[in-house]
This record gives sequence, structure tokens and C-alpha cells, in this order.
Amino acid sequence: MDFPIFHLDFMGDRLLIAIIAVIHVMINHGLAVGFIPLVTWLEYKGFKKAEDAQITGPDWDKLAYRLMTVAFIITTTVGAMTGVGIWLAASLVNPASIGSLIRVFYGAWFTEWIVFVTEVILILIYYLSWKKSLKSVEAKSRHIMFGTFLSIASWITMSIIVSILGFMMDTGSWVENKTFISGFSNPIYLPQLAFRTPMAALMAGTIALFLTVLFTKRDTSIRILATQAIGKWIIVASIFSALGAYWYYSRIPHLMIGNIQIAVGTMDFQSWYNLLVWFIFGAISVSMLIALVTILKPKLKIPKLVYIIPVIAVLGFAGIFERIREFIRKPYVIGNYMYSNTLRVEDYPLFKRDGLLTYATYSPVKEVTEDNKLIAGEQIFLIACSRCHTTNGINSLIDKFEQMYSFKNHEPLNGASMKAYISNIQNARYFMPPFPGNDKELDALVAYIQEIQKTQTPEANLIPETEMSHDSIAK
Ligand code: HEC
Repeated sequence: MDFPIFHLDFMGDRLLIAIIAVIHVMINHGLAVGFIPLVTWLEYKGFKKAEDAQITGPDWDKLAYRLMTVAFIITTTVGAMTGVGIWLAASLVNPASIGSLIRVFYGAWFTEWIVFVTEVILILIYYLSWKKSLKSVEAKSRHIMFGTFLSIASWITMSIIVSILGFMMDTGSWVENKTFISGFSNPIYLPQLAFRTPMAALMAGTIALFLTVLFTKRDTSIRILATQAIGKWIIVASIFSALGAYWYYSRIPHLMIGNIQIAVGTMDFQSWYNLLVWFIFGAISVSMLIALVTILKPKLKIPKLVYIIPVIAVLGFAGIFERIREFIRKPYVIGNYMYSNTLRVEDYPLFKRDGLLTYATYSPVKEVTEDNKLIAGEQIFLIACSRCHTTNGINSLIDKFEQMYSFKNHEPLNGASMKAYISNIQNARYFMPPFPGNDKELDALVAYIQEIQKTQTPEANLIPETEMSHDSIAK
């Protein structure tokens, strides 16, 4: 509560982070972590297949270069911007959790930053010196070495971030001893890394296969040999992805999903869960099937567009996977330490005793009175519910309450039953944090929800301009 609250009422704050982050993951895994080693491998194959007078096999080299061009353009533009975008969105939406993560992972993030800068330098060298590398055998082998270093650097940056993602799901023994090592080596880290690494290779393989079909002519030997090579890459990556998924899956989500299913029964989540299982097998099988056909029947006339199917399946799966990972973590943003509403678990007794608004630095009101009830209620909504709900947009509180009480015609919501529900919210739905405020604040929240149901007023209109000014906040 030490930060002003940023709230997007039409789409919800979660979606803002989700869109940017999912695009970033697709580019990072599909065109960097998994793709660079694949390109380097194809370049190396050309080098090995060179005939006596040649430095490298020109067809292989040209293909690898064109694949790298796509990766270079996308990773250094959209990839880089969405990477920064995650920081921007996450620090807007939940500055407290980013703050905590930085404190715990300071050294790891610093290392990640160094490796990332190295990665940027290496990708510039690797891509921009490609033409020059064709001058001599030494230059070519040095170039391939740069590709290898770049591959390693990309993987290291990912492997550090994966630890932080694992930590957010399950902090393990960190909650007790608060050491960096216990946070970094959290229980979900290795299984998730073991899954993400081959998954990145699989994503890259499907993209590379599609691009290779676009970039080469049918029945040429480079088309046949390169698609067969990439096909093998896909099969190996698929097998390891399936094994990694199994390990990862058996390690955490079962526990969390088990918890959720008891608490939630069959809400939306249930269908996402089934979809995930379907997608794991669907995406991996489709990719393997196409790869197998390509390897075994290279002359079969498959329309180019068919090759886009595994790309969509695998990227779609990655998107759903990220959504699930984020969802099952709830009600926490950092497992057992900080709830998704940005409040720390250990501070709850304090809020219950003194009231939430007392500690809300940016709230224009510090205590609920009859006169400021709606303004106070809005503040409580912003603090306690707005990380996941809107008033009138996606996952709107009004919709949720009306649906829950089966109100079809906007019948006025009943204050007493809402109050009873919210005071027990964490038991009703495990994925929501307990209500953090005191009794008067709960009344104010309920009054506010009733008011916006009645007026359909977007929340920001309730506070007169003057009260939002910095002067009044400073006082
Ligand atoms: C950690 C995120 C989070 C927070 C914080 C949160 N909710 Fe929710 N809430 C959800 C999600 C997710 C759903 C389910 C949405 C869906 O799948 O339809 C939900 C559903 C609901 C429902 C419908 C439950 C049902 O059984 O149909 C109500 C009512 C609700 N929330 C009220 C609140 C109120 C009031 C607050 C603030 C005190 C709050 N929520 C805070 C995430 C959250």
C-alpha cells in the first residue's frame, strides 16, 4: 500500500500483464532459447557437409541465415519491447510484489542482467558478422562458436527467470529461513526448467519447420534434408517435453489443482484444466505427426499451410500453460508470503486491528465515516479486489455477484448477504485472499458495490478531483 494504485477498469489489470508476458514468452522460447541452438546446428551441418573447395554448404548456410534473420528482427524488436513491457506492467499493477522479488533475487537478477546484455552483444555479432564468416574456414568456425555462446547465454537468462517463476508459485523453505539459496532452489524450479527447456526447443522446431518450407523450393535436396533434420529435432524435443511436463505436473499443480478442485468444484478453471491436458497431448502429437511424415515421406505433397498447424498448437499450448501457472498460484502472488492483492500475509492481523485505510498511503481517507463511505469503499475495492476484478469490465464484481445470486435483471444486491460472503471469501473460493480490512471497511465496500450496481458509474468518477490531488494525499 506504499504505492499509488493503477487500475484498468475495462480489461482488468491481470490481462494487461498476461498479454504482454505471453507474447514475450512465445518470442523468448520460440525464437531465442530454442531457436538459436537450432539455427547454429543447421549452420554447423552446412559447415560439416562442405565439399572440398568450399568453406560451408551454401544451401544450408543460406537457410540458417534466413531463419536467423526472422529471429533477429523479431527478438530485437517485439521481443525486447515486451521484455521491458513485463517490467512496466508488473511494476504498475503490483509494485509491492516486484519489490519483494527484487529484494530476494537481487543477485540473480543482476547476473541475469549481465548475461542478458552479453546476449544482446552476441546476437549482434552473430547476425551481423554472418556474411563475413563466409570468408574463411576459421571465420566460419568462430562464427559457429558465437552461435553456441549465444545459445548458452539465452538459456542461462531463461533458467534464472524460471527460478523466480517457481518461487512465486512455491516459496518452499524460504518462508521460514529467508535465504537467497532457499528461494532460488525452490521445489518447482528444476521440474519447471526441465519442462521449459525442451518446450522451447519444440516451439522453435515447429516455427523453423514452417519457415523452412516457406524459404525453400519443393523437392530440392536442401528442403528434404533440412526438414528431415528439423523433424528429428522436433521428435526429440517432443519426447523430452512430454517427460518434463510429466515431472513438472506431478510435482506441483497436482497439489494446487487438488486444493482448488475441492474448493472450487467445477468453475471455469475445470475446463481450463481439461484443456491443458488436451493441449499437452494435442500439441505434442500434432507436432510429432507432422515431423514423422516429413522424415519418412519427404516427397509427399503437403500444402505449406499445414505446417502452420503445429506452430499454432504449440504456441497456443504455451499461452494456456502460462495462464494456468499464474492462476493456480492464487490467492498468492508469492506463495504463502504475499497475496495477489499485494498485501503480505503477516500484515493481516495489523489491518484487521487498525483498519486497512490507516496504512493506505495514497488513500484520500484514512477512516470510514458515514460521509465518506463511498470514497472509502472505492479505496477498499482498489486495494482488496482490483488486482483481479473490475467494476464494469472483464471479471466485474457486479457481474460476479449478480451471477452468484442468479440475478438476471439487475435486482439490487443484498448488503447483508454480500457482507457474509466477503467476510468468508477465502473459504468460498480458495483462489481469493481473505478480506483484509475491518468491519466498517467491509460495510463501506458493500455500500460501494451496491452504489456502482445502481448507477453503473465507473469507479473513478466517485472521487472529486480535489481530493485526488497530491496536496491532500501529502496531508
Ligand atoms: C487473487 C485474485 C482475486 C482477488 C484479490 C479477488 N477475487 Fe474475486 N474472484 C477471482 C476469480 C479468479 C474469480 C472467478 C472468476 C471466474 O472464473 O468466473 C472470482 C470470483 C468472485 C466472485 C464470484 C464467486 C462465485 O462463487 O461465483 C465474487 C462474488 C468475488 N470474486 C468477489 C470478490 C471481492 C468482493 C473481492 C475483494 C474483497 C475479490 N473477489 C477479490 C479472483 C479474485
